[in-house]
Amino acid sequence: MTVLVVGATGSIGRLVVEEAVRRRHAVRALVRDPAKARQLPSEAQVALGDVTRPDTLSNAMDGVEAIVFTLGSDGAGKVGAERVDYGGVRNVLRALGSRKARIALMTSIGVTNRIGAYNRTTEAHDWKRRSERLVRASGLPYTIVRPGWFDYNGPDEHRLVLLQGDTRQAGNPSDGAVARRQIAEILVCSLTSNHALRRTFELIATAGLAPEDFDGLFAPLDGDPQGALDGVHDMANMPLEDEPQRVRDDLDVVRATTRQSACTDD
Ligand SMILES: NC(=O)c1ccc[n+]([C@@H]2O[C@H](COP(=O)([O-])OP(=O)(O)OC[C@H]3O[C@@H](n4cnc5c(N)ncnc54)[C@H](OP(=O)(O)O)[C@@H]3O)[C@@H](O)[C@H]2O)c1
Repeated sequence: MTVLVVGATGSIGRLVVEEAVRRRHAVRALVRDPAKARQLPSEAQVALGDVTRPDTLSNAMDGVEAIVFTLGSDGAGKVGAERVDYGGVRNVLRALGSRKARIALMTSIGVTNRIGAYNRTTEAHDWKRRSERLVRASGLPYTIVRPGWFDYNGPDEHRLVLLQGDTRQAGNPSDGAVARRQIAEILVCSLTSNHALRRTFELIATAGLAPEDFDGLFAPLDGDPQGALDGVHDMANMPLEDEPQRVRDDLDVVRATTRQSACTDD
């Protein structure tokens, strides 16, 4: 597959690029700072672009068959969360247009927790959750991975556990932890697994060995209901009618693009 990595220079994105190269995908890394591209494996093709500037994205889309999103706007507050974590996904999906691509989106464990101090300060959960909704509404084949705390796992904790319903909401590493490299691995593996289609899950690790059979991990999960905005078993605490008008408009646009592509297929 030709895989576009959005957030390719980040702590997870770099590992996604490495993992996708290792699995013999053709990798294209979206990078906004050319100097940072030097840290990526030479096999990766670099596409310069900034997700907040839609005019810079079209060149990255040629021939793309899959997209892995690992964007992060940490430290940029509510404005960054809307512009990058949410707006970045929206702008890339728009640039993709009616092309079909497999999507793997990384958000976060606790993403449905709206009342905790972190979300009240940053709205990062709300905007990441809205990016999940855009992906579900797009009608594209997708997997949404909500990892626990990066690299807070113990040295013997590599057995991956996939949870649904986002019920762990302490907002600290007691919610679960997982190695960065394993997050990258599952994002890349999801792209080629039919068992991962329309799956939304939290990802943590417990004591034990790393898995080899990813299909076996995905298969027991419940799929998101067709047409649903939230993950299966998620708390219904973000009613669409209370959402900002601009967010509802974005959902309408992404749905219309899907309809257009369905008509083209006919
Ligand atoms: N830390 C945890 O335990 C944990 C757990 C679960 C979820 N998360 C979530 O994971 C995310 C952090 O992942 P990470 O550590 O990989 O993040 P990171 O190292 O900060 O990387 C973020 C990536 O997004 C890119 N980016 C930001 N703005 C962009 C723009 N306008 N255009 C194009 N690319 C842009 C960055 O590019 P540059 O390199 O150019 O800046 C970078 O590649 C956070 O949002 C966090 O909420 C974290």
